[in-house]
Amino acid sequence: MAVIASAPGKVILFGEHAVVYGEPSLAGAIDKRIYVKAEENSDKKIRIISGDYSEIVEFSNLKPEGRFRYVKKAVELVFNKANETLGIDIIVNSQLPPASGLGSSAAVSVATIASLSRLFGIALEKKEIARLGHRVELEVQGAASPTDTLTSTFGGMLFIEPTKKRHINIAFSELPLVIGYTADPRSTAELVKSVRERRERHPEIIDSIIAQIGNITRKARHFLEEKNLESIGELMDINHGLLEALGVSTEKLSRLVYVSRNAGARGAKLTGAGGGGCMIAYTPENEEEVIKAIAKEGCEAFKAPITKEGVRIEKEK
Ligand code: MEV
Repeated sequence: MAVIASAPGKVILFGEHAVVYGEPSLAGAIDKRIYVKAEENSDKKIRIISGDYSEIVEFSNLKPEGRFRYVKKAVELVFNKANETLGIDIIVNSQLPPASGLGSSAAVSVATIASLSRLFGIALEKKEIARLGHRVELEVQGAASPTDTLTSTFGGMLFIEPTKKRHINIAFSELPLVIGYTADPRSTAELVKSVRERRERHPEIIDSIIAQIGNITRKARHFLEEKNLESIGELMDINHGLLEALGVSTEKLSRLVYVSRNAGARGAKLTGAGGGGCMIAYTPENEEEVIKAIAKEGCEAFKAPITKEGVRIEKEK
């Protein structure tokens, strides 16, 4: 038997980093997905394959290390839940650039949990898939908010309140966005650590920046729910300035932010952990001009419609 599941990547519209300190975040699933096929094999081992890379591991040696650390942790959690182990081939196909801030680790964790649990015949509700996905991220990278795993599981646009352990679906999701990709890989764990260290050095300053990012995110939720997009771009610009103050932008990211604004975007900011990876521009008009301006800087740019579809089973046979 084989099961294919897929889960989308995400962009954080508002609130990255501040969400690690309990402020809300606002994120949307994007129409680029990771597909994970789980198939029983006869050699009792776990074989993970993605493009040109592959690894064979014994169940007893499933340490969450190396390129496939998220997949391995997800496998371990599902095996524990099933109280059973099997030889499994896991084949990963991704439309998301890795380490880009577009939530590839959450998407691969969520899709692995969904495909494997279905293979074991365990019916997991989305809430449980998101919970296990978040556990994978926590155990692999240390600090992680539930933003990425919730968005990848449920899809659509979500306002996430980590302290209240809840998320609210924002029905409005037609937000024309362009993503600019610097192709500079970075580590979320390192960036979260760098903010923590800056906060330790200047708590009175950094805490107020974090609180202001929280205010921006709450205000953006309000505007999105009212379908009032007049100030969304401006809020993105302010949020970007505060992320620069946290030290997580880079020269290239901020250049893409500025060229996008100059090309007619209503607002732009880095998205995700920063330090490389991606930025987003809000482009109710001038979409093509913004894409061209980013390309002129030597970076890939693409439209990123928000998708309503979270994790789903694609095929089983
Ligand atoms: C990563 O996509 C976003 C951060 O806020 C970390 C997290 O929420 O876990 C930087």
